[in-house]
Amino acid sequence: MATAHLIAVGASPLGKTDLPGRDLFSRALAEAFAELPDPADVVDGVYVGAQSERYENQIMQGTLMAEWAGLRNVPAERVEACAAAGALALKNAVRDVRAGVHDAVLACGVEKMTAGGTEGATNALGAAFERALEQRSGITAPATYALLARRYLHETDATEQDLGRIAVKNHRNAAANPRAMFREAVDIETVMDAPDVAPPLKLYDCAPVTDGAAAVVVANDEVAADLQRRSNAVRVAGVGSAANNLAVAERDLTFVEGANVAASTAYEDAGVAAGDIDVAEVHDAFTVCEALLAEAAGFAPEGRGIETVEDPEDRSAGWTDVRINTSGGLKARGHPIGATGLLQAVEAYEQLTGRAGDRQVTDAETALLVNEGGVADAHTVATVLTAE
Ligand code: COA
Repeated sequence: MATAHLIAVGASPLGKTDLPGRDLFSRALAEAFAELPDPADVVDGVYVGAQSERYENQIMQGTLMAEWAGLRNVPAERVEACAAAGALALKNAVRDVRAGVHDAVLACGVEKMTAGGTEGATNALGAAFERALEQRSGITAPATYALLARRYLHETDATEQDLGRIAVKNHRNAAANPRAMFREAVDIETVMDAPDVAPPLKLYDCAPVTDGAAAVVVANDEVAADLQRRSNAVRVAGVGSAANNLAVAERDLTFVEGANVAASTAYEDAGVAAGDIDVAEVHDAFTVCEALLAEAAGFAPEGRGIETVEDPEDRSAGWTDVRINTSGGLKARGHPIGATGLLQAVEAYEQLTGRAGDRQVTDAETALLVNEGGVADAHTVATVLTAE
């Protein structure tokens, strides 16, 4: 099996922008290829993560983005698993490079979420819910995650304020991330006084509606060496994925089983354990998700995921010393659905190559990405990256 490396990354501005999806993509691509030859001289395959055609009435994103990158007559496919689409694009690119199907592949993701405002995004996201049981009730993403949050607060001694502190931590991290949508720290009073979205979740417990794109170049040893990118690369050490089920009604609300399986598979593939992970980007679409994923990924004992906000020395016994969502996470860096999994890879790349500036974690050598699609556990992709 060939080794897959991330040899370059790029991202568009994140937030409410005037740019259509293809231009968001071009911005991400330009950054990723700033120090490389033209895409057509580097990659021979493309995967595009995109959640919904409802934002811009556009499918055929594989062909469109390949064309926009100057590529013709190469395999180029859109992949979708709601918010896990970006990591799915990365997973497929890694699979192709490892299998020797391609020497280098462009994994990218894009979403123009603000095109229809919050209402348009809410409706588009609803398509990820199980239709017979849940869509017809009119339930929204925040309302569904509120069920998880309510149950978590019931089963553990966590409080709404503990969830709010996750938002405070992630806004603080985003303030140090030039890529982030929200660059201002918030205090706990602001978080707790903010309007309810779906109780117990308030405004700052929710990821925002975000326009954005990200691009990652995945290549084998030879391409990485030929392009003199070995010193600017990170290694893909392990990948795992799991589709659990669609209907929230049929789940354990406080154990994200699919994420646990995906992370365990990725650890095994990489030959590492949870305790080896220095930095992790986990899918905090809502604050409670960060606590749940800290537990599912093996970082925290059951019911203690909320200690993600504490410095490692202040956490309960059984916690690892991982730093979570140094980018600001979906919560504050932004959550352009199809691009999110690749934005997680951008942060890990920067941490593992020492480019993370004020948010650099000292001696970061191993990273975990956990990207989820559908409500929490419907589809998870986990990826372990290591410094070269
Ligand atoms: N966190 C912090 N601030 C936010 C925010 C968020 N999630 N969303 C919006 N804001 C801020 C805006 O920047 C704006 O600030 P300003 O007045 O200073 O400019 C203000 O709140 C109002 O923004 P607006 O876009 O009108 O908010 P809204 O009420 O229409 O939408 C939510 C807020 C939380 C309902 C919306 O962001 C949402 O639906 N989020 C969840 C998205 C989702 O489900 N993603 C998929 C997860 S699987």
